Amino acid sequence: MSIDSEKDLIGLLRIGKVVGMTLKKMSEAVRPGMTTGELDAIGAELLKKEGAHSAPIVTYKFPGYTCISINDEAAHGIPGSRVIQVGDLVNIDVSAELDGYFADTGATIPMLPVEPLKQKLADCTRAALDKGLAAAKAGNRVYDIGRAMENEVRRCGFRIIRDLPGHGVGRKLHEPPSVPGFFNKRANAVLTEGLVITIEPFVSTKANHIVTAADGWTLKTPDGSPAAQYEHTVVITKDRPILVTAV
Ligand code: CO
Ligand code: CO
Repeated sequence: MSIDSEKDLIGLLRIGKVVGMTLKKMSEAVRPGMTTGELDAIGAELLKKEGAHSAPIVTYKFPGYTCISINDEAAHGIPGSRVIQVGDLVNIDVSAELDGYFADTGATIPMLPVEPLKQKLADCTRAALDKGLAAAKAGNRVYDIGRAMENEVRRCGFRIIRDLPGHGVGRKLHEPPSVPGFFNKRANAVLTEGLVITIEPFVSTKANHIVTAADGWTLKTPDGSPAAQYEHTVVITKDRPILVTAV
């Protein structure tokens, strides 16, 4: 969506704060020994308390309130009986709807101690998000975001997972435009003030694409290499974007 009224901005910021706080509290609660189902239940309770509805459930009938993806799982991991271990990279992705507005955010939390390569992967992905945010301003093109993120990831010696883009968001979970994590010359739309998109680099130490696991949902690297993702929903402005999901 593109914001064209105060009402739109207020509605979007409200759900942005809800998903941002839910991610923050889940990130503080996650620890080895906990199951991904228990972690998801914390998120479910926080969303319910705010009157928000899980976007993956509303949109795709996903079997969980949030997506929890571990190590070689890049996205759409199903919460359940899996026990989180020391050394895991745990990605939590929270998206939800409130009063007709959607926001989407994610983060990768290392269960310390983790091997140095995994820590470097998480740090690099976080840095790539920051580079993408800096490139997200009115007048630039969508591909400038991907170019900035891809350059940072290459500097780390890692790879962008090319088949998992950011996306428009706001009135639905997934709207146009697609926001590739790499320089894709076809993503040449000009960014305009008020446009609402997610910026979300998916990065792996080795893999540049994902495969769907046998459960039909989980997207994982084909070679077992670890993956990480950080995500914010933003509103494009002339300068720094408004971080809808930052808390
Ligand atoms: Co997300
Ligand atoms: Co997203």
